[in-house]
Amino acid sequence: MAEHISVLISEEEIEKRIRELAEKISADYQGQTLHLICILKGSLFFTCELAKRLTIPVTIDCMSVSSYGAGTSSSGVVRVNKDLDETIEGRHVLIIEDIIDSGRTLSYLIRNLASRNPASMKLCTLLDKPDRRVCDVNVEYTGFEIPDQFVVGYGLDFDQRYRNLPFIGILSFE
Ligand code: IMP
Ligand code: MG
Repeated sequence: MAEHISVLISEEEIEKRIRELAEKISADYQGQTLHLICILKGSLFFTCELAKRLTIPVTIDCMSVSSYGAGTSSSGVVRVNKDLDETIEGRHVLIIEDIIDSGRTLSYLIRNLASRNPASMKLCTLLDKPDRRVCDVNVEYTGFEIPDQFVVGYGLDFDQRYRNLPFIGILSFE
């Protein structure tokens, strides 16, 4: 089956939205240092573009978890592949996700990270598929709500491919 990708959100639209989010986050955390947690690998591009536009002091750490295999539907099993390098105790933490689908990955992450006693912890996601939610999660900053379709690009992959696309596209099989 041939894979086909159609543009859902253009590079320009993504950049504009990231600028808006950065402005809001910078205002909300005025006078504080914000500790960004990039959830690898999907949030790589989003974290970089967002971080560059924040006007408050920022530190960055990365964590890698997986809830998906090579397919397009959630397994429900979350595994920590790489933990944080630094402690988050007493820090203002912002978790950066690429996409919230069932919410299973984030529910697990929130429980895991909350037990490490951060001063505060909020969530920021580039994309949200609200129709697919199984676990309730409270998201403070959302880039775009999208329909229930499998998307790739801007960090998001299908079987590790397409992460480097500069836009968000819908993947279909023909
Ligand atoms: P959840 O645990 O079901 O919320 O899944 C979250 C993770 O699944 C994301 O961090 C992505 O890695 C992956 N995922 C969910 N939907 C998509 C999609 O449409 N394209 C690519 N990856 C996705
Ligand atoms: Mg991911």
